Amino acid sequence: MSESSGMARKRPGDTWRIGVAGLGTVGAGLLTFLDERPGFAPAGCLAKVTGVSARSRSRPRPFDISGLPWFDDPVALAASPDIDIFVELVGGSDGPAKAAVEAALKAGKPVVTANKALIAEHGAELAALAEAQGVPLLFEAAVMGGTPAVKMLREAMVGDDIRSVAGILNGTCNYILTEMDSAGRSFADVLAEAQRLGYAEADPTTDVGGFDAAHKITILAALAFGCAPTYSAAEIEGIDQVELLDIKLARDLGYRVKLVASADRSPEGVLVRVHPALTPIAHPLAQTGGALNALFIEGQRIGRIFIQGPGAGAGPTAAAVAADIADVMTGAVRPVFQAPAGSLKPFTPIDRAKTEGRAYLRFLVKDEPGVIAAVSETLAEAGVSIESFLQKPVDNAQGVPIVLTTHAVVESVLMAAIDRIADLSSVLDRPRLLRIARI
Ligand SMILES: NC(=O)c1ccc[n+]([C@@H]2O[C@H](COP(=O)([O-])OP(=O)(O)OC[C@H]3O[C@@H](n4cnc5c(N)ncnc54)[C@H](OP(=O)(O)O)[C@@H]3O)[C@@H](O)[C@H]2O)c1
Repeated sequence: MSESSGMARKRPGDTWRIGVAGLGTVGAGLLTFLDERPGFAPAGCLAKVTGVSARSRSRPRPFDISGLPWFDDPVALAASPDIDIFVELVGGSDGPAKAAVEAALKAGKPVVTANKALIAEHGAELAALAEAQGVPLLFEAAVMGGTPAVKMLREAMVGDDIRSVAGILNGTCNYILTEMDSAGRSFADVLAEAQRLGYAEADPTTDVGGFDAAHKITILAALAFGCAPTYSAAEIEGIDQVELLDIKLARDLGYRVKLVASADRSPEGVLVRVHPALTPIAHPLAQTGGALNALFIEGQRIGRIFIQGPGAGAGPTAAAVAADIADVMTGAVRPVFQAPAGSLKPFTPIDRAKTEGRAYLRFLVKDEPGVIAAVSETLAEAGVSIESFLQKPVDNAQGVPIVLTTHAVVESVLMAAIDRIADLSSVLDRPRLLRIARI
């Protein structure tokens, strides 16, 4: 912490006064945690909630807030002289969450947040503000909920050079894909049930559109590579276009479809992307079912590390928030993103057209002789080498579905080949493209 730090200084036996904005799933989890662990005293100091804020004061909550000072405005709570640590659990990249975090940092208060949208989209400027004020800005709960990924990259692996991080970072999508695969149900059917059960939001776009996973992988990329989080550079494709047919055909080929979020570093720059991808059935990512999250981290010296665990939920997420509070109380000091905020540069995005990968293509062809030969020749002429071929009659189909997987091919070559196949008179629809995960 810098000499100019406005942060409260505490001795063993003192109390850290905590302001909590947002009393929803995670906020309720945190207050329950602090209730259940009255002796939670890292560094010998006690944690005590001395102010709360939410939208509705009268909403029934799973804990009693009647004795706690109430703030209608989270910004007022953030700047209150009666708190030492501000915990932001409101959510959203802008609006009250951002205003309150800025107010807390400007007032010299450490901030703990679970807000991935805020950190992915404004992390660099908030890190600069925090470091100028000499206070921590911590967000373990923002990625993988209770499964520690942030500290692992920022602290435990800081001695290595990380090459890539890749995994399953959105439990809602993983739940939907797992159900589609195991129960043979459509995307719309499983999504509707997930919404009924409260696993998916009423507006599921952030999850199923891949944006939540993109926020998380943006943060992990920044921590892994020592860059500023550059959300705008992420390439994002969600699971809303994944059809049950693709899941079934992928299984016939020995794969499961997963929403994979990845960040790779090369001398040319950084590629951050989220997309549905085929993963070999025996692979740990394919074996990660339900709402679980999983992550591979590959370092130059340490090699590959795999972690798996809950990515959401009140208990796990609150435990991660509490771990950050403990870091503040024990005086742990780290730059927000591995390197001092003033030296952080945005990622240099890699030109996607030049990247290489394997692909799965599925399309309908007329049921007539010579079609397969025409497709194979067209692909060969375009420079795409076929790895496997599956022709599978499907009831009520207008034609015969063809599925093929390719060997590694440059993206621009693949796209040109898809255009050429779509133009063939015997091909009835534009090929559906799914990536085969590079893991
Ligand atoms: N849920 C998880 O498992 C999970 C996991 C990891 C990270 N996160 C992150 O944690 C954060 C909170 O998520 P959550 O699931 O707990 O959300 P949530 O259940 O929707 O709770 C949001 C809370 O913020 C309050 N709020 C909304 N607008 C407000 C405003 N203008 N002023 C004051 N309070 C306001 C709400 O008040 P009312 O209660 O009065 O409506 C509610 O208490 C988000 O950034 C989320 O991405 C969540």
